[in-house]
Order: sequence, then structure tokens, then C-alpha cells
Amino acid sequence: MGQKVRTAVFPVAGRGTRFLPVTKASPKEMLPIVDKPLIQYAVEEAIAAGATKLVFVTGASKRAIEDHFDTDPELEHALTESGKDELLASIRGIVPTGVSCVYIRQGEPLGLGHAVLCARPAVGDEPFFVHLADDLIAGEPGCLAQMADEYAEHGGSVVAVETVPRESTSSYGIVAVDGEDRNRVTEIVEKPAPEDAPSNSAVVGRYLLAPEIFDKLEKTGRGAGGEIQLTDGIADLLNESAVYAYSFAGVRYDCGSKLGYLQATVAYGLEHPDTGESFREHLKGVLEISGR
Ligand code: UTP
Repeated sequence: MGQKVRTAVFPVAGRGTRFLPVTKASPKEMLPIVDKPLIQYAVEEAIAAGATKLVFVTGASKRAIEDHFDTDPELEHALTESGKDELLASIRGIVPTGVSCVYIRQGEPLGLGHAVLCARPAVGDEPFFVHLADDLIAGEPGCLAQMADEYAEHGGSVVAVETVPRESTSSYGIVAVDGEDRNRVTEIVEKPAPEDAPSNSAVVGRYLLAPEIFDKLEKTGRGAGGEIQLTDGIADLLNESAVYAYSFAGVRYDCGSKLGYLQATVAYGLEHPDTGESFREHLKGVLEISGR
């Protein structure tokens, strides 16, 4: 029923204040998990879900992201000369043939809803993914691919959700759903206090949105934290078009927070073919020492 989703939007214009000072001059999305920056995991997930146009909404101090996805003939030449074929393949494959990158500036960080609206000229009148790179989700197939499958069945829009502790509702967009109607969202609220939250089902950083969201965002005023919130645009969309909450299979790491970032580093370090075995031994040693 739903059409193929070809465009993925990556809002990367936030200031990343929770990760200062590291985010003062370099983007949070370039933080590495073992040997790849967060934004590369994001791009790989979107491409695996069928995206062929990658739209980055960038802001101040984000040049490194553009450089990361550009080809680097000098580096490629040096790696070829020194016979480092595996490393060469790892940088050549970052953006596969047939996939294009578009960069749009968000002049001022007015909020996630505003960042998504900035992508409108590049998205056009088609459904699109929104991927927040600091929410790293380990899962196979990836979260966006799972959402695309769900969307293919019933159309509308899809937001990824996860159950969070009641006391954390004020950090998320929170939904109420109709369980009789494929978890269709009936209410969505940005960062409610635990006592006001309609549930403890939280929206995480993956969305598949119908293009009608843009008209809603045009009219969305400043909400929680004085920012133009994507959640408020979606709340407006609910009135005329179906939005479904999707509980993905996978493990999410909030890499915008220090603890989540460290947890992701450990989890991915243990799985990585270059580091897994020796890192496991190292951690065992650390645990033995700290357990004494
Ligand atoms: P966050 O709420 O995580 O904000 O934004 P932030 O600025 O990145 O980080 P903190 O909270 O200050 O530490 C959610 C997503 O929306 C993007 C961010 O880049 C992030 O991917 N965003 C946010 C924008 O692109 N523009 C904005 O104006 C605000």
C-alpha cells in the first residue's frame, strides 16, 4: 500500500550541549563507535532501508560531516600506493554508487521540527525517513527497514517507539495508541511530566513521515523548550492522516548522552571482528580487579 521511500533526512544541526566540551567545535554525529562515526551508521541503516537520496540538515561546526561523505582522491591514492586495499574499500564504500547526498543549512537551531521543514525542498511530495543519528539502534534488519515494511502494509506515517520508565517521560515525545487499530497514535505530547504523560511509550529517533507533515510544520509555533517541535507537527497531522506507533526489534543506545555512548562503545567493541575477542578479555580483567 505505502509507496517506496527513497529519501532520508538527517537533522544534524543541534548543538549537542549534553556532550560539551567535545561538541564545541566538532559535531556530535561524528563521535566514533569503534571505527565509524554515528552518522555513518545512520546512513548505512537508511541505505539498507532503500534510501537513495540522503538529505543532511546541517548547522554551525558541521563541516566534518560533509567532508566524511565526500570522496578523498588524495587519501585513496595514498592507500592504493601502500597496498592498503581493505582500508581503501572501507572509505570508498561509504556512499555507494547511485546514492546522492544533499546538504541544507538550518540557519538557526530553532528545533527538530524546523530542521525537518528545512529539508522540504529536497524531499518534495513523497514520504521520507527522518533519522536522528544520536539514537543508535543495533538490529538486523535495521530499524528503518522494519518501519518501511510496516508502512508498505498500511501507508500513513510511522514513528518508532520504545517503553521507557515513567520517570523519564519528560525526555521524550510520548504517545497514546489504539491497540485495536494497529497501534494507531491517538495522542502525542512532547516531554510531558510523568503525571501528565498519556503512557510510557516514547518516540525514539526514527520516523517515516507522509509529506503532509510539511504543511503542519509551517504552522507549528514554538513549543517545549521554546523550540519548533516535530512532535507538535505530528500531533497536528493525527487529525487528518494515520500515524502508527511501531515497536522495533533491536537495542537502542542514546549516544547523545555520555552513559548511552559508553554503553554503545562497549556493545559494538565486543561485536567488532578486530577488537571483540581481546576487548572481552580486557573487560573480564577490569571486572575482576574492580570486583575485589
Ligand atoms: P536534541 O534534542 O538531541 O538536541 O536534538 P541537540 O542539540 O542535538 O543535543 P543536546 O540536547 O543539546 O545535547 C534531536 C535531534 O534534532 C537535531 C539534532 O541534531 C538531533 O539530531 N536538531 C535539533 C536540529 O537539527 N536542529 C535543531 O534546531 C534542533
